[in-house]
Amino acid sequence: MSSLKDEIDMQNLPVHIAIIMDGNGRWAKKRFLPRKLGHKAGADPLENITKAADKLGVKHLTVYAFSTENWKRSDEEVKGIMDLLRNYLDRYVAKADKEDIKIDIIGERSRLDQDIQEKIKLIESISADKPGLNLHIALNYGGRDDLLRGFKKIAGRIEDGSLRAEDITEEMISENLDTGFYPDPELVIRTSGEERISNFMLWQIAYSEFVFNSKLWPDYTEEDLYGDICYYQNRDRRFGGR
Ligand code: FPP
Repeated sequence: MSSLKDEIDMQNLPVHIAIIMDGNGRWAKKRFLPRKLGHKAGADPLENITKAADKLGVKHLTVYAFSTENWKRSDEEVKGIMDLLRNYLDRYVAKADKEDIKIDIIGERSRLDQDIQEKIKLIESISADKPGLNLHIALNYGGRDDLLRGFKKIAGRIEDGSLRAEDITEEMISENLDTGFYPDPELVIRTSGEERISNFMLWQIAYSEFVFNSKLWPDYTEEDLYGDICYYQNRDRRFGGR
């Protein structure tokens, strides 16, 4: 069977792909199921897409799993997502020796339950030397919160006299964000047909290409990822030049 994978120009593969995994609630609603089952159905595509991106040779994948605004959802839904995360982290640990993927969390973690913070620390340490793709899970993440925390770090250096305001550079701002240790995404994919950024990586997406895919996240497949990469590759990136 032919696959869109064969159409991908491997010389022009995005180094970093970011995904806004949207549409779990609508997927559940269409089936008269509680929203948390929509999120549960979204866990499989997350694993499949991570594996597919790793096999392709993508270096960084950032997925928006829980935003700073998502706390406003019902307790049941928030607990549902946190339990999925617990499960995801536990499953990785259980088969860690067979895993190839490096995992870390971006976002403000002090608001997460203590046991989740412990699991995150464990997974970050046991996966740190894995050779494969870097999966960055955005949890209690907001682009504005990321900038705010970054600005506070920089302001602290001005306060203690180690930095002058006129010496602040764009690079310094980038380095002080949660994503400071990896490159900005060339491609941002949002599923479910919504065309919004929803407070995701506001600074980092300055030159990103966007693909809005109409599939709901639980229905998103490897073929969809290949198609979205091809679509991105057929665009002409000019970075503000001609
Ligand atoms: C947005 O859909 C999705 C989320 C807020 C949660 C994303 C979580 C997963 C894909 C699976 C969990 C995996 C881990 C690692 C925690 P929505 O609920 O806003 O959908 P809607 O717009 O249709 O209501």
